[in-house]
Amino acid sequence: MYIVLLGAPGAGKGTQAMEVSQKLGLVHVASGDLFREVRESDNDLGRLVKSYYDKGELVPDDVTIQMILSRLAKPDCEKGCLLDGFPRTLQQAEALDEALRKQNKRVDRVISIQVSEAELLRRLSGRWLCRKCGAPYHSVYAPPKKAGTCDACGGELYQRPDDTEATAKNRLEVYNRQTAPLITYYTGQRKLTDVDGEKAVEAVSRAVVAVLKDR
Ligand code: AP5
Repeated sequence: MYIVLLGAPGAGKGTQAMEVSQKLGLVHVASGDLFREVRESDNDLGRLVKSYYDKGELVPDDVTIQMILSRLAKPDCEKGCLLDGFPRTLQQAEALDEALRKQNKRVDRVISIQVSEAELLRRLSGRWLCRKCGAPYHSVYAPPKKAGTCDACGGELYQRPDDTEATAKNRLEVYNRQTAPLITYYTGQRKLTDVDGEKAVEAVSRAVVAVLKDR
């Protein structure tokens, strides 16, 4: 089963992907996590990714498509995965469809997580992440038991450089301009289901799992 999680920055894609991949035993592939790793590399690709990432702009399609398709070619994705943050442009969606089609596979379901813009900005400004295991926290909605420390693995918590107010606002604009058209694309393929992302994390997960089990 190949599942795409769509949603604006801060909608809860990463949070839900972690919950749902565990519940359903799906591999979680997050383009943002892959880019955060590449961004740290002291080479041309690392510098290129950093130059887009740090402004809240999308990394060019050719680089992104190549990175994700090589990830999908690994054996753990052979039977499917949960895609979080990819595709994000029509060109990426078409490249994904084409790559899967060549293997007689397809995107099975697309979940669009809906959250209002005011709430998205509140979530991004309060977000903390674990450096070691990537678990997401929020200073108000999901605080760790001990400030600055991950409950799950004891790793150090940090704030993303692209979660500053100005960059977060730009990411929302980029989403509306470049990614929102995918809603029409996947609606046309009759694969898209909206889920209310403003409910509590557990309630959103239940809704996502219900959609996936209902296919
Ligand atoms: P990426 O890492 O994918 O960032 P994003 O899409 O902007 O999404 P976020 O990770 O910010 O939000 P999320 O929806 O995962 O929310 P989360 O679960 O963390 O991409 C970063 C950058 O990489 C891009 O800007 C671009 O440069 C590059 N990139 C990535 N993919 C690309 C692509 N395909 N093409 C080109 N470039 C690409 O939750 C947010 C906060 O809210 C957390 O604190 C969480 O605890 C809290 N929260 C979550 N759910 C709830 C809830 N139900 N109630 C209350 N709080 C909640």
